[in-house]
Amino acid sequence: MTSPQPLPAFPDGFLWGVSTSAFQIEGAVEEDGRGPSSWDAFSRTPGRIRDGTDATVATGHYHRWREDVALLRELGVGAYRFSVSWPRVRPAGGGEVNPAGLDFYDRLVDALREAGIEPVPTLFHWDTPLPLEERGGWLERDTARRFADYAEVVAARLGDRVTHWITLNEPAELTLLGYGLGEHAPGRRLLFDALPAAHHQLLGHGLAAAALRARGARSIGVANSHGPVWPLSGREEDTGAAGFYDVVTNRLFADPLLLGRYPDEGLAALLPGPVTDDLKVIGGSLDWYGVNYYQPTLVGAPDPRAQANAFAGIGLPAELPFGIREIPGRERTGFGWAVVPEGLSETLRTLRDRYGDRLPPVMITENGCAYPDPVHDTRRIAFLDAHLRELHTTLGDGVDVRGYFVWSLLDNFEWAEGHAQRFGLVHVDYATLERTPKDSYRWLRDALRAQRDGDGG
Ligand code: NOJ
Repeated sequence: MTSPQPLPAFPDGFLWGVSTSAFQIEGAVEEDGRGPSSWDAFSRTPGRIRDGTDATVATGHYHRWREDVALLRELGVGAYRFSVSWPRVRPAGGGEVNPAGLDFYDRLVDALREAGIEPVPTLFHWDTPLPLEERGGWLERDTARRFADYAEVVAARLGDRVTHWITLNEPAELTLLGYGLGEHAPGRRLLFDALPAAHHQLLGHGLAAAALRARGARSIGVANSHGPVWPLSGREEDTGAAGFYDVVTNRLFADPLLLGRYPDEGLAALLPGPVTDDLKVIGGSLDWYGVNYYQPTLVGAPDPRAQANAFAGIGLPAELPFGIREIPGRERTGFGWAVVPEGLSETLRTLRDRYGDRLPPVMITENGCAYPDPVHDTRRIAFLDAHLRELHTTLGDGVDVRGYFVWSLLDNFEWAEGHAQRFGLVHVDYATLERTPKDSYRWLRDALRAQRDGDGG
């Protein structure tokens, strides 16, 4: 393939994996007792999804999971990060458990282990059971308690075969895009009144972590999105706007989890009442920290004339105290995101500097890119190669990185973009659901083989 040099050698025991999520790949949304989720309702609302598709079928993984496990085995990954669909396991959010839903993940976990692959389940990747969403979803404290109950049900069934758990995926995006700006389910546009959704997800994490621990779990993480925030200039209005953006995207979730407090006292008024006791449940609840990295953000004072496409094409309301600009002079992925591999190492060094010994071992739980190239995806190979080299520079630099997961195994339902953005190492033909490994899949397979044989670097 096109990678000129072998990758440098990563430490023994480094966990190599790929990631997916339930709603994005499973389909079968009305089969075997699964209940509806916030995303079913949202994606079927006309005008919400850019290409007009929904995830009723997606990649058909619910029926084709054996084929997907075979792809994982052939790829040679040590781990597979997938998510458990809450509405498949507990269709109403609480109350009755759907045995067929649990059976599905039970079979998947067994098949993965038989293939020598560590199952790394995420308990919540944005698909809130619709009955809970209709009662306010994560704006309500009750959702946090329901989430912990559901976590307990999953742990009771899978806990004997799962080592690493992830509670939440990207609570920042769900808060900002789902409850703040209405670009994602549930489509609320509450701006800063979305903050209770952040707090309740954090509380849900803390309660779920306690439930998992009571079932013997010893390796609990979250998958948080992180990226450098670059101020547009040294002018105070730009650095101030960038600082604010950093607080609401990078620190709003990391500080409570790692330091047991919110980053800015100004946020207190937006939180749902006194949170001191909750922060005791949230703080120090992690054994490792998952980082999803895609790109840095260039932030300046709000300027309606210079609104960038960079924020997933979302027009930001004028009330927000920051503006997002295009990062100049960079290659872009098919999605229009800037390709900035050194943003990954910068992210990790910032976490190291900011949290010091409060930062547990880190895993990169997502990194990847969308390109339309069906099979000869040279640009994805270059992207992954460059990011892995950057990651390698942080090893032994006070950042204890233990694993790296590519987003994603398969092309899949990319939320508000529908099926138009393809992140997969494996191409999916949505007419036939046929899977075709891309060149990047073969490149990664060979790179992992070289790592195993000790011929990296
Ligand atoms: C983060 C999300 O966790 C995942 O679901 C999404 O597909 C990727 N980023 C790419 O946008």
